[in-house]
Amino acid sequence: MNDSVKISCKNLWQLFGKGASGFLDEHQHAPSDAALASAGLIAAVRDVSFDVYGGEILVIMGLSGSGKSTLVRCLTRLIEPDAGQVLFDGVDLLQTSRRRLTQIRRRKMGMVFQNFGLLPHRTVLDNIAFPLEIQDVPKVARLAKARELVATVGLEGREHNFPRELSGGQQQRVGIARSLIGECDVWFLDEPFSALDPLIRREMQDEFVSLQSRLNKTIVFVTHDFDEAVRLGDRIAIMKDGRLAQIGTAEELLMTPADDYVKKFVQHAPRAKLITAQKIMVPARPDDIRLLEGQSVIRNTDVLEKIARRVIEADHALAVVDAAGVLVGRVGRENLARALFQ
Ligand SMILES: Nc1ncnc2c1ncn2[C@@H]1O[C@H](COP(=O)(O)OP(=O)(O)OP(=O)(O)O)[C@@H](O)[C@H]1O
Ligand SMILES: [Mg+2]
Repeated sequence: MNDSVKISCKNLWQLFGKGASGFLDEHQHAPSDAALASAGLIAAVRDVSFDVYGGEILVIMGLSGSGKSTLVRCLTRLIEPDAGQVLFDGVDLLQTSRRRLTQIRRRKMGMVFQNFGLLPHRTVLDNIAFPLEIQDVPKVARLAKARELVATVGLEGREHNFPRELSGGQQQRVGIARSLIGECDVWFLDEPFSALDPLIRREMQDEFVSLQSRLNKTIVFVTHDFDEAVRLGDRIAIMKDGRLAQIGTAEELLMTPADDYVKKFVQHAPRAKLITAQKIMVPARPDDIRLLEGQSVIRNTDVLEKIARRVIEADHALAVVDAAGVLVGRVGRENLARALFQ
């Protein structure tokens, strides 16, 4: 992840129902639940603002119907939002011409959807090559590129099969390869693994992580599985009834949940694997410097799982140091217990 903002969405709204246009202006862009209900409108995306940084995996989570898919479709302007801005590399996608938008989509965006969306009468290879066909890339060149991607997603030998001849997991690999062929820099994936059984799903997650370590794309990934979110995401955005309830690292959501809804989402999270010493330590006092002498010290970025044994076995608090070895705090058994069993 770097510090550059790749996508910035500001005050995005998407209403469904008759008379949506005009409704927001009439209500000063802050309609009440009652006003929406009496107009018979569904606010699928409701005044949502956040940034996606270059190279990060941002996971969007939330219950079914909370607006995840609609939000992603607004970010790519597959749905025309009712209000707001979507800046993509600083260009407002909602103001840009159709032609330019199509160019940006083809060259810079890759998309994988909830259902695989493969073309049934085309082979694996032709499905993968399809985006280049639309761009009029010559056949030899596009098939060569498609073959490379067949290897990337581990489908060698199935190039000439049709989608119906593949398992769900294999079909999804075709979808993933197809979405990568345009060498996009931003990749949108809407529950790409949700149709897969748990074992294959885990396998695909691992492959996804290793693929990303080579490709280093900016990724917006929708899931409603918190384990998946934790495994894949640098940050997690939680949607509730069209609103963004909270955005942050898994650790931030765990330690400072914005409300009960977020709390519920994270309640079964593996706390020991996610919370770091930094978040549970007590700030160092001047005389804590003695803790550094001949004792085992803890790095502020160590997760609780890693430090638990030493903290439990020590007869006093242990010193916490930063990357430069400077004393920043101390952690004792009670800090550990409180964080683990909150
Ligand atoms: N084309 C549409 N017309 C009317 N309402 C819609 C339309 N698309 C979505 N909605 C409504 O908008 C809300 C958000 O839907 P959305 O598909 O974004 O949810 P989601 O979080 O992706 O859910 P899931 O986890 O089930 O995929 C829902 O109430 C849905 O019924
Ligand atoms: Mg969805």
